[in-house]
Amino acid sequence: MDDPRIERLIRYGGGFAGELVVRARGSWLETASGGRVLDFTAGQICATVGHNHPRVADAIRRSLDEVIHLNSWMLSPPVLDLADALLDTLPAPLDRAMFLSTGGESVEAAVRMAKLASGRFEVASLTRSWHGLTGGAAALTLAAGRRGYGPTLPGSFALPAPYAYRCPVRACDGACDCSCLEAGFDLFDQASVGSPAAVVAEPVLSAGGVIVPPPGYFARLVELCDERGMMVVFDECQTGLGRLGAMYGFERYGVVPDFLVLSKTLGGGVPIGAVVTSAAIEERCYELGFVHVTSHVSDPMPAAAAGAVLEIVRSEDLPARAERAGERLASHLAELATRHEAVGDVRGMGLLHGVELVEDRDSRRPAEALGLALTDECERRGLSINLVRGGTGGAANCLRMAPPLTVSDDEIDLAAEILDASLAAVEVHA
Ligand SMILES: Cc1ncc(COP(=O)(O)O)c(C=O)c1O
Repeated sequence: MDDPRIERLIRYGGGFAGELVVRARGSWLETASGGRVLDFTAGQICATVGHNHPRVADAIRRSLDEVIHLNSWMLSPPVLDLADALLDTLPAPLDRAMFLSTGGESVEAAVRMAKLASGRFEVASLTRSWHGLTGGAAALTLAAGRRGYGPTLPGSFALPAPYAYRCPVRACDGACDCSCLEAGFDLFDQASVGSPAAVVAEPVLSAGGVIVPPPGYFARLVELCDERGMMVVFDECQTGLGRLGAMYGFERYGVVPDFLVLSKTLGGGVPIGAVVTSAAIEERCYELGFVHVTSHVSDPMPAAAAGAVLEIVRSEDLPARAERAGERLASHLAELATRHEAVGDVRGMGLLHGVELVEDRDSRRPAEALGLALTDECERRGLSINLVRGGTGGAANCLRMAPPLTVSDDEIDLAAEILDASLAAVEVHA
């Protein structure tokens, strides 16, 4: 990008992407130089129903005429409508909601409620997880951004992620048998000072390398939490509203958490987060004087946008669409794996897929330079995909594909074609 004003910005994540984006519609971005880019990151995994969906834009426009923002204690119809519609999609006992702004803030709010209600303070999260970068959420984010910022919160614990391709406890290869979970709780018990409050987990660990826990994993995690009186917080900022082929990721595992955290996918591109819990936990927190007043809690405009997103997801049955489109994407990726030695592992669920890149399949050494060259090559050929690197301990070097749930079959085929050609181009130079 040759605009000198770029130098006026703080570089918050390494560099910036190559081109200015001037317009976004559906699965496509248009750049200042007139290029078109197929967006397989759905923005920052937020454009659930495609960029600038007309019904979301209409809802926002209505708010501009009605009310954008209010005092934190005032309510408006969009907030009550959203609470109603959202809770209608959830099983008992999840029947109380609060609307905030970001994912990290919403994770923090859920954890604060779990601590207050339980009177305890120890919280565990999974290695390779991402829960946000505000203080409390950053204490639980183990995928990146840890070094150089001083101490995190006392009472934070790590459980080894069920990363079968690089098993953290060296027990399995290719299929996780949950040894990591048992070992993790064993470590937790020994290190605990006797105040176990909660476990926070993503149903699929996205930023840590698209790690998909095996079918019985969360049922066992819930049992282990129950034995210790810990609450379970499902962070579904990326997976909520259909991405995994069900409305919520927890449905795929047959469990119901004590807290559900949503953000990203709920706003469809507009910042909104939600904490959902039971009436009993809400009542307990209220009695204990729960305070989580923020500038944008219960704001009408983001609630109106989220209401439109939820309506589209339900009326177009996008969870089912994500499942079908995900199968199409998965079969392309499996086919690419047969022809490209750099593809070490392919994994995913619904419309969240990862391709782990290795130098060779025997050593499984992460192919970092190749990953960077590949995302550049894809971008040059008009496909935006992320390279995610899951922190320490044998980094996952994984391409992540998470298009809008409205992505068409043709767009999936085109993305696979570009990825294939880009792999061939960078492998030649590797
Ligand atoms: C699963 C998950 N939780 C929480 C967050 C934090 O959300 P935010 O960046 O809006 O604070 C993210 C962001 O990537 C995420 O992927």
